[in-house]
Amino acid sequence: MPLLRTTRSLRATRTTVLAGLLLAGTAVVPMASAAATPLYKNSHAPVSERVKDLMARMTLDDKVGQMTQGERGAATPAQSAAARLGSILSGGGSTPTPNTPAGWADMIDAYQKAATSTGLGIPIIYGSDTVHGHNNVHGATVFPHNIGLGAANDPRLVEKIGAITAEESAATGVKWGFAPCLCVARDDRWGRTYESFGEIPRNAVENSRIIKGLQGRELDDPASIMATAKHFIGDGGTTGGDDQGNTQISLEELRRIHLPPFRAAVAHGVGSVMISFNSWNGVKDHGNKFLITDLLKGELRFSGFVISDWNGIDQIDGQEGFTAAEVKQAVNAGIDMIMVPYDYLKFISTLKAEVLNGHIPLSRIDDANRRILTKKFELGLFEHPYTDRSLQKDFGSAAHRAVARQAVRESQVLLKNDGVLPLAKRDNKIFVAGKNANDLGNQAGGWTLTWQGQSGERVIPGTTILDGIKAGAGKGTVVTYDRAGGGIDSGYRVAIAVVGETPYAEGEGDRPGGLGLDAEDLALLGKLKASGVPVVVVTVSGRPLDIAAQLPSVKGLVAAWLPGSEGAGVADVLYGDYNPTGKLSFTWPKSSAQEPINAGDGRQGLFPYGYGLSYRRHHR
Ligand code: BGC
Ligand code: BGC
Repeated sequence: MPLLRTTRSLRATRTTVLAGLLLAGTAVVPMASAAATPLYKNSHAPVSERVKDLMARMTLDDKVGQMTQGERGAATPAQSAAARLGSILSGGGSTPTPNTPAGWADMIDAYQKAATSTGLGIPIIYGSDTVHGHNNVHGATVFPHNIGLGAANDPRLVEKIGAITAEESAATGVKWGFAPCLCVARDDRWGRTYESFGEIPRNAVENSRIIKGLQGRELDDPASIMATAKHFIGDGGTTGGDDQGNTQISLEELRRIHLPPFRAAVAHGVGSVMISFNSWNGVKDHGNKFLITDLLKGELRFSGFVISDWNGIDQIDGQEGFTAAEVKQAVNAGIDMIMVPYDYLKFISTLKAEVLNGHIPLSRIDDANRRILTKKFELGLFEHPYTDRSLQKDFGSAAHRAVARQAVRESQVLLKNDGVLPLAKRDNKIFVAGKNANDLGNQAGGWTLTWQGQSGERVIPGTTILDGIKAGAGKGTVVTYDRAGGGIDSGYRVAIAVVGETPYAEGEGDRPGGLGLDAEDLALLGKLKASGVPVVVVTVSGRPLDIAAQLPSVKGLVAAWLPGSEGAGVADVLYGDYNPTGKLSFTWPKSSAQEPINAGDGRQGLFPYGYGLSYRRHHR
């Protein structure tokens, strides 16, 4: 160790002298340095000095490029390098062919090869929405969406999930995850309710621990990725649960409900924060200097970098596309990197012009670059720009799936039980029905392979809830499945109806008209009840549903949320292999007409926040 220290400081001295020459003189590099390594490339030098050295060598074009993020479908590696883009992202479902870890690694390594072959050789950072595992990639371990993890109320497990997600992401070259969503969803009609850990800040505060898992002990660990706390701020507080809508609350309420999770994220050292599409009292967050610069960077002392959301700056003036005025407002408000999926060339020329005409001070450009480059150095991207493919051997492994299954078990909330659960494993006759019983796409929800997700029995590898029920059946037990309930008769001891929602994401999931079961589910429940067989309802959904009218005639009710790839975890609870511990992190309303209804507001729902039953004894 002491030997290493000496070596380090010797190197640092040599390169500091060189840097001194550079800074003192013009940008002309001394002849002798042709062979010497520039300070910024010296992995032993302190990050702050490397950043300073690198920035002294960068032109305005380099700096503007660093602040720009394009979409993989819009920028080839060569185009990305020519424009000096700082980052490339995969939008939801924007995947290489083949959509495998190797396919991703090949794609991302090609971006890195092009980027590191330019003059200064600054690597890009590649980002993707790792919202419930590395969900864009086929074969990834897909964890329950946040609403389920909130019910599980096990932040240490969530930290482990973060570590697995990071490992599977890094295995593909993705070193930046757009997660966690720390939204506090106040109105369940909002299409992003399932991305929320719970309706009160404590749920997101405690589970922000996932950041520790994602980022690991050090950002430059091969299996670490940089996390993103999103969306700052007030996304879950819009009037009517309108996605990207207007959060009309006082500063006091904004601070009390929506700020605490970000404070916690900063305490965990989160590397980036994404700005939210919503407005706060009529002003779009993307242009709000008070929120971004004063509150986030000033008061919270966030030292990482701020990324805008998908075309988010376009919305500042309410007109399509972005103008120079919007670019100026967003950057001056404190956004450091701008997600302009497609129009990156126009963005670059606009931003440059706004600097040259004095609308945006160079100090702001430098601040943004300092923040972005600091993270790139901390991530070790300059030393290791290419994918560590040795991590691929554990991609989607049985060990990772076992953790996901545990999370599924822990996230189940038993809401009603008239003695029909747990299911006897032996000598039983079980009927299983419903559109979500045997559909991995439905149980995984949105942000799975594609942005919106999709129905489909085997769209991803994993186990369906039906698979789990079948696998758990013991000697003498018969499990019969028919989606529509065909063939049910009084000879069955129990009928499990797995109903609820089908995949959606963001505004496509807004349901201002109510959260009732659909016609297929209602017809199924009618049919099962008519058979006289006791019915257990399992809801697969991104939020509490309107179930009050059905409740009296069912014998059991389990909220399964959106469990992801390991449906067998639901069966673990149905059979009592795991005695349920999940508790509602959302008030379950009598009807969605009660929305918004939240803990502490003194109103009575169907089941209160924190509710969840267990089995008193195991009777097999
Ligand atoms: C979403 C973000 C996401 C981004 C990139 C946006 O539409 O609001 O949560 O990170 O797209 O896919
Ligand atoms: C992209 C998503 C993005 C969304 C924003 C979609 O086309 O795939 O990543 O979040 O657009 O509207």
